[in-house]
Amino acid sequence: MDHWTAIENHPASTLKALFDADTNRVTQWSFEQSGIYFDFSKTHMDGTLLDSFQKLAADQGLSEQIEALTCGAMVNISEGRAAEHTAERGIGAETSVENARLLKRRMQGLVEAIDAGALGNIEHIIHLGIGGSALGPKLLLEALKIGDEKYETAVISNIDGCALEPVLERFDAHKTLLVIASKSFTTAETFLNAGSVTDWMMEQGVSDPFGKIIALTAMPEKAVEWGIDESRILPFSETVGGRYSLWSSIGFSVALTLGFEVFEDMLAGAAEMDAHFKQAPFEQNIPVIAAFCDQYYCQVRKCETRAVFAYDERLKLLPDYLQQLEMESNGKSVMADGKTLDRHSSPITWGGVGTDAQHAVFQLLHQGTHLVPVEFLAVIEPGHSLAAEHHQGLLLNCFGQGAALMAGKSSDDSNRNYPGDRPSTTVLLNDLDGRTLGALIAFYEHRTFANAVLLGINPFDQFGVELGKEMANALLAGGGNQMDSSTETLKNRAFPA
Ligand code: F6P
Repeated sequence: MDHWTAIENHPASTLKALFDADTNRVTQWSFEQSGIYFDFSKTHMDGTLLDSFQKLAADQGLSEQIEALTCGAMVNISEGRAAEHTAERGIGAETSVENARLLKRRMQGLVEAIDAGALGNIEHIIHLGIGGSALGPKLLLEALKIGDEKYETAVISNIDGCALEPVLERFDAHKTLLVIASKSFTTAETFLNAGSVTDWMMEQGVSDPFGKIIALTAMPEKAVEWGIDESRILPFSETVGGRYSLWSSIGFSVALTLGFEVFEDMLAGAAEMDAHFKQAPFEQNIPVIAAFCDQYYCQVRKCETRAVFAYDERLKLLPDYLQQLEMESNGKSVMADGKTLDRHSSPITWGGVGTDAQHAVFQLLHQGTHLVPVEFLAVIEPGHSLAAEHHQGLLLNCFGQGAALMAGKSSDDSNRNYPGDRPSTTVLLNDLDGRTLGALIAFYEHRTFANAVLLGINPFDQFGVELGKEMANALLAGGGNQMDSSTETLKNRAFPA
Protein backbone atom coordinates (compact mmCIF):
# COMPACT_ATOMS: atom_id res chain seq x y z
CA MET A 1 0.00 0.00 0.00
CA ASP A 2 1.47 3.39 -0.89
CA HIS A 3 1.53 6.17 1.69
CA TRP A 4 -1.32 8.18 0.16
CA THR A 5 -3.51 5.07 0.29
CA ALA A 6 -2.59 4.52 3.94
CA ILE A 7 -3.49 8.15 4.67
CA GLU A 8 -6.74 7.91 2.72
CA ASN A 9 -7.73 4.61 4.36
CA HIS A 10 -6.99 5.79 7.89
CA PRO A 11 -10.23 5.33 9.90
CA ALA A 12 -11.66 8.75 10.70
CA SER A 13 -11.91 9.60 14.38
CA THR A 14 -13.90 12.52 15.65
CA LEU A 15 -12.09 15.35 17.37
CA LYS A 16 -13.98 14.50 20.54
CA ALA A 17 -12.77 10.89 20.39
CA LEU A 18 -9.21 12.07 19.86
CA PHE A 19 -9.38 14.33 22.91
CA ASP A 20 -11.09 11.62 25.01
CA ALA A 21 -8.44 9.07 24.06
CA ASP A 22 -5.48 11.27 24.95
CA THR A 23 -5.46 13.61 27.91
CA ASN A 24 -2.10 14.85 26.71
CA ARG A 25 -3.37 15.82 23.27
CA VAL A 26 -2.89 19.58 23.63
CA THR A 27 0.71 19.19 24.78
CA GLN A 28 1.47 16.71 22.03
CA TRP A 29 0.03 18.82 19.22
CA SER A 30 1.11 22.28 20.35
CA PHE A 31 4.44 23.87 19.51
CA GLU A 32 6.21 27.09 20.30
CA GLN A 33 8.70 29.00 18.23
CA SER A 34 9.89 32.63 18.18
CA GLY A 35 7.13 33.92 20.46
CA ILE A 36 4.37 32.08 18.59
CA TYR A 37 2.27 29.22 19.98
CA PHE A 38 0.76 26.87 17.37
CA ASP A 39 -2.09 24.62 18.48
CA PHE A 40 -2.93 21.78 16.07
CA SER A 41 -4.85 19.76 18.69
CA LYS A 42 -8.24 20.66 17.19
CA THR A 43 -7.31 18.97 13.91
CA HIS A 44 -7.83 15.28 13.13
CA MET A 45 -4.10 14.58 13.14
CA ASP A 46 -3.08 11.57 15.21
CA GLY A 47 0.01 9.43 15.68
CA THR A 48 -0.84 6.97 12.89
CA LEU A 49 -1.54 9.72 10.39
CA LEU A 50 1.63 11.51 11.41
CA ASP A 51 3.57 8.32 10.82
CA SER A 52 2.09 7.85 7.34
CA PHE A 53 2.71 11.48 6.45
CA GLN A 54 6.31 11.20 7.62
CA LYS A 55 6.77 8.21 5.33
CA LEU A 56 5.20 10.14 2.46
CA ALA A 57 7.49 13.09 3.23
CA ALA A 58 10.51 10.77 3.19
CA ASP A 59 9.41 9.31 -0.17
CA GLN A 60 8.95 12.79 -1.59
CA GLY A 61 12.44 13.76 -0.37
CA LEU A 62 11.22 16.56 1.89
CA SER A 63 14.43 16.65 3.99
CA GLU A 64 16.56 16.80 0.86
CA GLN A 65 14.30 19.48 -0.64
CA ILE A 66 14.51 21.60 2.53
CA GLU A 67 18.27 21.28 2.36
CA ALA A 68 18.24 22.17 -1.35
CA LEU A 69 16.02 25.21 -0.72
CA THR A 70 18.12 26.53 2.13
CA CYS A 71 21.49 26.00 0.51
CA GLY A 72 20.68 27.74 -2.75
CA ALA A 73 20.30 24.69 -5.01
CA MET A 74 18.14 24.90 -8.15
CA VAL A 75 14.69 24.13 -6.75
CA ASN A 76 12.79 26.19 -9.32
CA ILE A 77 13.22 23.62 -12.08
CA SER A 78 10.98 25.11 -14.76
CA GLU A 79 12.85 28.43 -14.61
CA GLY A 80 16.24 26.84 -13.93
CA ARG A 81 17.11 28.74 -10.77
CA ALA A 82 17.31 28.65 -6.99
CA ALA A 83 14.69 30.23 -4.69
CA GLU A 84 16.83 32.26 -2.35
CA HIS A 85 14.51 34.20 -0.07
CA THR A 86 16.13 32.59 2.97
CA ALA A 87 19.53 33.99 1.88
CA GLU A 88 18.02 37.45 2.51
CA ARG A 89 17.73 36.34 6.16
CA GLY A 90 21.24 34.91 6.31
CA ILE A 91 20.55 31.24 5.49
CA GLY A 92 21.71 29.96 2.12
CA ALA A 93 24.66 29.64 -0.21
CA GLU A 94 27.60 31.63 1.17
CA THR A 95 27.93 33.95 -1.83
CA SER A 96 24.18 34.64 -1.94
CA VAL A 97 24.08 35.41 1.79
CA GLU A 98 27.03 37.77 1.40
CA ASN A 99 25.50 39.41 -1.67
CA ALA A 100 22.19 39.91 0.18
CA ARG A 101 24.07 41.34 3.17
CA LEU A 102 25.88 43.88 1.00
CA LEU A 103 22.67 44.91 -0.75
CA LYS A 104 21.02 45.33 2.63
CA ARG A 105 23.82 47.66 3.77
CA ARG A 106 23.27 49.69 0.61
CA MET A 107 19.56 49.83 1.40
CA GLN A 108 20.29 50.91 4.97
CA GLY A 109 22.60 53.65 3.64
CA LEU A 110 19.79 55.02 1.47
CA VAL A 111 17.27 54.87 4.35
CA GLU A 112 19.71 56.83 6.53
CA ALA A 113 20.46 59.35 3.80
CA ILE A 114 16.76 60.05 3.19
CA ASP A 115 16.18 60.31 6.95
CA ALA A 116 19.02 62.85 7.05
CA GLY A 117 17.34 64.91 4.30
CA ALA A 118 19.51 63.94 1.30
CA LEU A 119 16.43 64.06 -0.97
CA GLY A 120 14.94 67.15 0.65
CA ASN A 121 12.04 67.37 3.03
CA ILE A 122 10.16 64.09 2.54
CA GLU A 123 6.88 63.53 4.38
CA HIS A 124 5.00 61.25 1.98
CA ILE A 125 5.97 58.01 0.29
CA ILE A 126 4.10 56.48 -2.63
CA HIS A 127 5.13 52.83 -2.98
CA LEU A 128 4.01 51.45 -6.35
CA GLY A 129 4.04 47.73 -7.01
CA ILE A 130 1.65 44.85 -7.46
CA GLY A 131 1.40 41.22 -6.30
CA GLY A 132 4.47 40.36 -4.25
CA SER A 133 5.85 43.85 -4.79
CA ALA A 134 2.90 45.30 -2.82
CA LEU A 135 1.19 42.69 -0.65
CA GLY A 136 4.14 42.07 1.70
CA PRO A 137 5.00 45.76 2.24
CA LYS A 138 1.32 46.60 2.72
CA LEU A 139 0.83 43.82 5.28
CA LEU A 140 3.93 44.82 7.26
CA LEU A 141 3.10 48.52 7.27
CA GLU A 142 -0.45 47.86 8.42
CA ALA A 143 0.61 45.33 11.05
CA LEU A 144 3.54 47.19 12.60
CA LYS A 145 2.78 50.90 12.27
CA ILE A 146 2.31 52.64 15.57
CA GLY A 147 0.96 55.94 14.34
CA ASP A 148 3.83 58.31 14.99
CA GLU A 149 5.87 57.47 11.90
CA LYS A 150 7.91 60.22 10.26
CA TYR A 151 6.48 59.42 6.82
CA GLU A 152 2.97 58.71 5.62
CA THR A 153 3.22 55.82 3.19
CA ALA A 154 0.65 54.71 0.63
CA VAL A 155 1.09 51.38 -1.16
CA ILE A 156 -0.74 51.53 -4.48
CA SER A 157 -1.07 48.52 -6.74
CA ASN A 158 -4.25 48.72 -8.78
CA ILE A 159 -4.35 50.17 -12.27
CA ASP A 160 -7.74 51.61 -11.27
CA GLY A 161 -7.22 55.34 -10.81
CA CYS A 162 -9.62 55.20 -7.85
CA ALA A 163 -6.69 53.78 -5.88
CA LEU A 164 -4.12 56.42 -6.80
CA GLU A 165 -6.15 59.61 -7.24
CA PRO A 166 -7.12 60.15 -3.57
CA VAL A 167 -3.46 59.77 -2.59
CA LEU A 168 -2.39 62.40 -5.12
CA GLU A 169 -5.10 64.67 -3.77
CA ARG A 170 -3.86 64.22 -0.23
CA PHE A 171 -0.08 64.23 -0.64
CA ASP A 172 2.18 67.22 -1.22
CA ALA A 173 4.10 66.53 -4.44
CA HIS A 174 7.06 68.57 -3.25
CA LYS A 175 7.44 66.36 -0.17
CA THR A 176 6.72 63.02 -1.87
CA LEU A 177 9.16 60.21 -2.52
CA LEU A 178 8.13 57.78 -5.27
CA VAL A 179 9.23 54.17 -4.73
CA ILE A 180 8.80 51.87 -7.73
CA ALA A 181 8.87 48.23 -6.67
CA SER A 182 8.98 45.74 -9.50
CA LYS A 183 11.15 42.68 -9.74
CA SER A 184 10.87 42.58 -13.54
CA PHE A 185 10.60 46.37 -13.93
CA THR A 186 8.06 45.82 -16.69
CA THR A 187 4.70 45.26 -14.95
CA ALA A 188 2.02 47.27 -16.77
CA GLU A 189 0.00 48.42 -13.75
CA THR A 190 3.06 49.65 -11.87
CA PHE A 191 4.37 51.67 -14.79
CA LEU A 192 1.05 53.23 -15.71
CA ASN A 193 0.80 54.39 -12.09
CA ALA A 194 4.45 55.52 -12.10
CA GLY A 195 3.79 57.66 -15.19
CA SER A 196 0.77 59.25 -13.51
CA VAL A 197 2.74 60.04 -10.35
CA THR A 198 5.64 61.62 -12.26
CA ASP A 199 3.15 63.63 -14.39
CA TRP A 200 1.51 64.82 -11.17
CA MET A 201 4.90 65.81 -9.73
CA MET A 202 5.70 67.81 -12.85
CA GLU A 203 2.28 69.47 -12.93
CA GLN A 204 2.77 70.45 -9.30
CA GLY A 205 6.05 72.11 -10.21
CA VAL A 206 8.52 69.63 -8.71
CA SER A 207 11.75 70.62 -10.48
CA ASP A 208 13.40 67.18 -10.69
CA PRO A 209 10.81 64.44 -10.17
CA PHE A 210 13.22 61.73 -11.28
CA GLY A 211 15.53 62.80 -8.46
CA LYS A 212 12.85 61.68 -6.00
CA ILE A 213 12.37 58.18 -7.36
CA ILE A 214 13.74 55.01 -5.81
CA ALA A 215 13.69 51.76 -7.80
CA LEU A 216 13.52 48.32 -6.14
CA THR A 217 14.19 45.68 -8.74
CA ALA A 218 16.08 42.61 -9.88
CA MET A 219 16.56 44.36 -13.25
CA PRO A 220 18.61 47.46 -12.37
CA GLU A 221 19.56 48.06 -16.01
CA LYS A 222 15.87 48.54 -16.86
CA ALA A 223 15.54 51.09 -14.06
CA VAL A 224 18.51 53.00 -15.48
CA GLU A 225 16.85 52.93 -18.93
CA TRP A 226 13.70 54.31 -17.30
CA GLY A 227 15.74 57.31 -16.16
CA ILE A 228 16.54 56.51 -12.55
CA ASP A 229 19.99 57.30 -11.29
CA GLU A 230 22.03 54.26 -10.27
CA SER A 231 22.51 55.67 -6.75
CA ARG A 232 18.77 55.37 -6.15
CA ILE A 233 18.35 51.84 -7.49
CA LEU A 234 18.24 49.08 -4.90
CA PRO A 235 18.74 45.78 -6.69
CA PHE A 236 17.95 42.31 -5.43
CA SER A 237 18.72 38.87 -6.73
CA GLU A 238 16.78 37.32 -9.61
CA THR A 239 16.60 34.17 -7.47
CA VAL A 240 14.25 35.84 -4.95
CA GLY A 241 10.72 35.15 -6.17
CA GLY A 242 8.19 38.00 -6.37
CA ARG A 243 5.88 36.65 -3.66
CA TYR A 244 8.90 35.95 -1.43
CA SER A 245 10.51 39.33 -2.01
CA LEU A 246 9.49 41.42 1.01
CA TRP A 247 12.79 40.44 2.66
CA SER A 248 14.81 42.00 -0.15
CA SER A 249 14.94 45.66 -1.18
CA ILE A 250 11.19 45.34 -1.88
CA GLY A 251 10.96 45.95 1.89
CA PHE A 252 12.57 49.39 1.46
CA SER A 253 9.39 51.44 2.10
CA VAL A 254 8.78 49.34 5.22
CA ALA A 255 12.33 49.95 6.47
CA LEU A 256 12.08 53.67 5.72
CA THR A 257 8.66 54.10 7.33
CA LEU A 258 9.01 51.84 10.36
CA GLY A 259 12.76 52.08 10.89
CA PHE A 260 15.59 49.89 9.64
CA GLU A 261 15.82 48.12 13.01
CA VAL A 262 12.22 46.88 12.65
CA PHE A 263 13.09 45.48 9.23
CA GLU A 264 16.16 43.78 10.70
CA ASP A 265 14.04 42.30 13.50
CA MET A 266 11.77 40.79 10.87
CA LEU A 267 14.69 39.22 9.07
CA ALA A 268 15.97 37.85 12.39
CA GLY A 269 12.56 36.37 13.26
CA ALA A 270 12.31 34.77 9.83
CA ALA A 271 15.83 33.34 10.22
CA GLU A 272 14.75 31.69 13.49
CA MET A 273 11.89 30.00 11.64
CA ASP A 274 14.27 29.01 8.83
CA ALA A 275 16.58 27.34 11.36
CA HIS A 276 13.61 25.52 12.91
CA PHE A 277 12.36 24.33 9.48
CA LYS A 278 15.85 23.13 8.57
CA GLN A 279 16.63 21.37 11.85
CA ALA A 280 13.49 20.18 13.63
CA PRO A 281 12.48 16.54 13.11
CA PHE A 282 9.23 16.31 11.16
CA GLU A 283 7.17 15.32 14.21
CA GLN A 284 8.11 18.68 15.77
CA ASN A 285 8.53 20.72 12.63
CA ILE A 286 5.78 23.34 12.69
CA PRO A 287 5.56 24.21 8.96
CA VAL A 288 5.74 20.49 8.13
CA ILE A 289 2.97 19.52 10.59
CA ALA A 290 0.84 22.36 9.19
CA ALA A 291 1.41 21.01 5.67
CA PHE A 292 0.45 17.49 6.80
CA CYS A 293 -2.82 18.90 8.13
CA ASP A 294 -3.37 20.86 4.90
CA GLN A 295 -2.86 17.73 2.83
CA TYR A 296 -5.09 15.65 5.09
CA TYR A 297 -8.03 18.04 4.71
CA CYS A 298 -7.46 18.70 1.02
CA GLN A 299 -6.88 15.12 -0.13
CA VAL A 300 -8.78 12.98 2.38
CA ARG A 301 -11.64 15.19 3.54
CA LYS A 302 -11.82 16.86 0.10
CA CYS A 303 -11.86 20.39 1.51
CA GLU A 304 -11.54 22.79 -1.38
CA THR A 305 -10.85 25.85 0.73
CA ARG A 306 -9.07 26.83 3.89
CA ALA A 307 -10.00 29.92 5.88
CA VAL A 308 -7.76 32.23 7.90
CA PHE A 309 -9.25 34.61 10.45
CA ALA A 310 -7.02 37.12 12.17
CA TYR A 311 -8.53 38.19 15.47
CA ASP A 312 -6.48 41.33 15.28
CA GLU A 313 -7.25 44.35 13.14
CA ARG A 314 -3.51 44.87 12.55
CA LEU A 315 -3.36 41.57 10.67
CA LYS A 316 -6.36 42.22 8.49
CA LEU A 317 -4.26 42.01 5.31
CA LEU A 318 -2.85 38.60 6.19
CA PRO A 319 -5.50 36.63 4.22
CA ASP A 320 -4.74 38.73 1.10
CA TYR A 321 -1.03 38.11 1.54
CA LEU A 322 -1.57 34.37 2.03
CA GLN A 323 -3.81 34.14 -1.01
CA GLN A 324 -0.93 35.11 -3.26
CA LEU A 325 1.65 33.10 -1.35
CA GLU A 326 -0.38 29.88 -1.34
CA MET A 327 -2.47 30.09 -4.49
CA GLU A 328 0.17 31.54 -6.83
CA SER A 329 2.73 29.06 -5.48
CA ASN A 330 0.68 25.88 -5.37
CA GLY A 331 -2.26 26.45 -7.71
CA LYS A 332 -0.85 24.12 -10.35
CA SER A 333 -2.04 21.02 -12.20
CA VAL A 334 1.33 19.84 -13.42
CA MET A 335 4.07 18.33 -11.29
CA ALA A 336 7.71 19.36 -11.32
CA ASP A 337 8.48 16.37 -13.56
CA GLY A 338 5.90 17.53 -16.14
CA LYS A 339 3.33 14.86 -15.31
CA THR A 340 -0.29 15.76 -14.60
CA LEU A 341 -1.13 16.15 -10.92
CA ASP A 342 -3.88 13.64 -10.21
CA ARG A 343 -5.16 15.29 -7.03
CA HIS A 344 -6.11 18.78 -5.82
CA SER A 345 -3.15 21.15 -5.51
CA SER A 346 -3.70 24.22 -3.35
CA PRO A 347 -6.93 24.72 -1.48
CA ILE A 348 -8.45 28.16 -2.04
CA THR A 349 -7.26 30.45 0.73
CA TRP A 350 -9.77 32.95 2.03
CA GLY A 351 -10.59 34.65 5.28
CA GLY A 352 -11.10 37.87 7.14
CA VAL A 353 -10.92 39.44 10.58
CA GLY A 354 -12.59 38.44 13.80
CA THR A 355 -14.94 39.28 15.29
CA ASP A 356 -16.42 40.87 12.13
CA ALA A 357 -16.40 37.58 10.22
CA GLN A 358 -18.46 35.90 12.95
CA HIS A 359 -21.39 38.07 11.92
CA ALA A 360 -20.92 37.42 8.24
CA VAL A 361 -19.48 34.08 7.14
CA PHE A 362 -19.33 31.89 10.23
CA GLN A 363 -22.86 30.59 9.65
CA LEU A 364 -21.46 28.48 6.80
CA LEU A 365 -18.49 27.36 8.85
CA HIS A 366 -20.72 26.07 11.67
CA GLN A 367 -23.66 24.64 9.73
CA GLY A 368 -22.89 24.71 6.00
CA THR A 369 -22.32 21.62 3.88
CA HIS A 370 -18.69 22.52 3.12
CA LEU A 371 -16.04 21.38 5.54
CA VAL A 372 -13.59 24.26 5.91
CA PRO A 373 -10.45 23.91 8.04
CA VAL A 374 -10.14 27.22 9.86
CA GLU A 375 -7.01 28.94 11.09
CA PHE A 376 -7.40 31.45 13.92
CA LEU A 377 -4.70 34.01 14.67
CA ALA A 378 -4.60 36.19 17.75
CA VAL A 379 -2.06 38.26 19.67
CA ILE A 380 -1.85 38.20 23.48
CA GLU A 381 -0.59 41.81 23.82
CA PRO A 382 -3.24 44.25 22.62
CA GLY A 383 -2.32 46.84 20.00
CA HIS A 384 -4.32 49.63 21.68
CA SER A 385 -4.78 51.24 25.06
CA LEU A 386 -8.57 51.07 25.33
CA ALA A 387 -10.24 49.19 28.19
CA ALA A 388 -9.17 45.58 28.72
CA GLU A 389 -12.68 44.36 27.82
CA HIS A 390 -11.93 44.97 24.13
CA HIS A 391 -9.02 42.58 24.02
CA GLN A 392 -10.53 40.03 26.36
CA GLY A 393 -13.66 39.97 24.23
CA LEU A 394 -11.62 39.64 21.06
CA LEU A 395 -9.46 36.76 22.21
CA LEU A 396 -12.19 34.88 24.03
CA ASN A 397 -14.43 35.11 20.98
CA CYS A 398 -11.60 33.64 18.96
CA PHE A 399 -11.12 30.72 21.34
CA GLY A 400 -14.89 30.27 21.68
CA GLN A 401 -15.31 29.89 17.93
CA GLY A 402 -12.70 27.13 17.76
CA ALA A 403 -14.39 25.37 20.67
CA ALA A 404 -17.84 25.68 19.06
CA LEU A 405 -16.65 24.39 15.68
CA MET A 406 -15.19 21.35 17.40
CA ALA A 407 -17.89 20.61 20.00
CA GLY A 408 -21.01 21.43 18.01
CA LYS A 409 -24.35 21.13 19.78
CA SER A 410 -27.14 18.73 19.10
CA SER A 411 -30.74 19.80 19.00
CA ASP A 412 -34.01 18.11 18.07
CA ASP A 413 -34.67 21.13 15.93
CA SER A 414 -32.52 20.50 12.86
CA ASN A 415 -32.25 24.26 12.26
CA ARG A 416 -30.56 24.64 15.58
CA ASN A 417 -28.30 21.61 15.33
CA TYR A 418 -24.54 22.14 15.07
CA PRO A 419 -22.75 19.04 13.77
CA GLY A 420 -19.38 20.00 15.29
CA ASP A 421 -16.21 18.01 14.61
CA ARG A 422 -15.04 20.92 12.44
CA PRO A 423 -11.27 21.39 12.59
CA SER A 424 -9.29 24.49 13.43
CA THR A 425 -5.72 25.52 14.14
CA THR A 426 -4.92 28.40 16.49
CA VAL A 427 -1.81 30.53 16.11
CA LEU A 428 -1.31 32.68 19.19
CA LEU A 429 1.40 35.35 19.09
CA ASN A 430 2.82 36.73 22.33
CA ASP A 431 3.14 40.14 20.75
CA LEU A 432 3.00 41.65 17.27
CA ASP A 433 6.48 42.96 16.57
CA GLY A 434 9.03 42.68 13.77
CA ARG A 435 10.58 39.46 15.03
CA THR A 436 7.30 37.64 15.57
CA LEU A 437 5.79 38.77 12.29
CA GLY A 438 8.96 37.79 10.43
CA ALA A 439 8.80 34.32 11.95
CA LEU A 440 5.09 34.02 11.18
CA ILE A 441 5.51 34.90 7.50
CA ALA A 442 8.47 32.53 7.18
CA PHE A 443 6.28 29.82 8.74
CA TYR A 444 3.71 30.33 5.97
CA GLU A 445 6.40 30.31 3.27
CA HIS A 446 7.82 27.01 4.53
CA ARG A 447 4.40 25.45 4.96
CA THR A 448 3.65 26.35 1.33
CA PHE A 449 6.95 24.80 0.26
CA ALA A 450 6.33 21.62 2.30
CA ASN A 451 2.88 21.28 0.69
CA ALA A 452 4.44 21.63 -2.75
CA VAL A 453 7.03 18.94 -2.01
CA LEU A 454 4.36 16.54 -0.71
CA LEU A 455 2.49 17.06 -3.99
CA GLY A 456 5.62 17.01 -6.17
CA ILE A 457 4.96 20.44 -7.67
CA ASN A 458 7.23 23.46 -8.22
CA PRO A 459 5.90 26.33 -6.08
CA PHE A 460 8.26 28.91 -7.54
CA ASP A 461 6.92 29.59 -11.03
CA GLN A 462 3.60 31.24 -12.01
CA PHE A 463 3.06 30.66 -15.72
CA GLY A 464 -0.69 30.66 -15.10
CA VAL A 465 -0.77 34.45 -14.87
CA GLU A 466 0.71 35.02 -18.34
CA LEU A 467 -2.18 34.23 -20.69
CA GLY A 468 -4.53 36.75 -19.09
CA LYS A 469 -1.82 39.43 -19.38
CA GLU A 470 -1.35 38.56 -23.09
CA MET A 471 -5.07 38.80 -23.79
CA ALA A 472 -5.37 42.13 -21.96
CA ASN A 473 -2.38 43.47 -23.89
CA ALA A 474 -3.91 42.33 -27.18
CA LEU A 475 -7.12 44.19 -26.30
CA LEU A 476 -5.15 47.27 -25.28
CA ALA A 477 -3.27 47.16 -28.55
CA GLY A 478 -6.60 47.43 -30.37
CA GLY A 479 -7.03 43.72 -30.99
CA GLY A 480 -9.77 41.58 -29.52
CA ASN A 481 -11.82 41.22 -32.66
CA GLN A 482 -10.35 37.76 -33.09
CA MET A 483 -11.45 36.83 -29.57
CA ASP A 484 -14.77 35.28 -28.69
CA SER A 485 -17.98 37.18 -29.40
CA SER A 486 -18.71 37.74 -25.70
CA THR A 487 -15.38 39.50 -25.14
CA GLU A 488 -15.76 41.48 -28.34
CA THR A 489 -19.25 42.65 -27.30
CA LEU A 490 -18.01 43.70 -23.86
CA LYS A 491 -15.19 45.68 -25.44
CA ASN A 492 -17.49 47.40 -27.94
CA ARG A 493 -20.03 48.19 -25.23
CA ALA A 494 -17.42 49.81 -22.96
CA PHE A 495 -15.54 51.54 -25.79
CA PRO A 496 -17.92 52.16 -28.71
CA ALA A 497 -16.12 52.98 -31.94
O1 F6P B 1 1.68 38.52 -12.34
C1 F6P B 1 2.28 37.82 -11.32
C2 F6P B 1 3.52 38.48 -10.79
O2 F6P B 1 4.60 38.15 -11.58
C3 F6P B 1 3.78 38.10 -9.34
O3 F6P B 1 4.40 36.89 -9.19
C4 F6P B 1 4.59 39.26 -8.88
O4 F6P B 1 4.62 39.33 -7.49
C5 F6P B 1 3.84 40.39 -9.53
O5 F6P B 1 3.41 39.89 -10.77
C6 F6P B 1 4.61 41.67 -9.73
O6 F6P B 1 5.72 41.50 -10.55
P1 F6P B 1 6.89 42.55 -10.57
O7 F6P B 1 7.46 42.65 -9.21
O8 F6P B 1 7.88 42.01 -11.57
O9 F6P B 1 6.33 43.88 -11.02
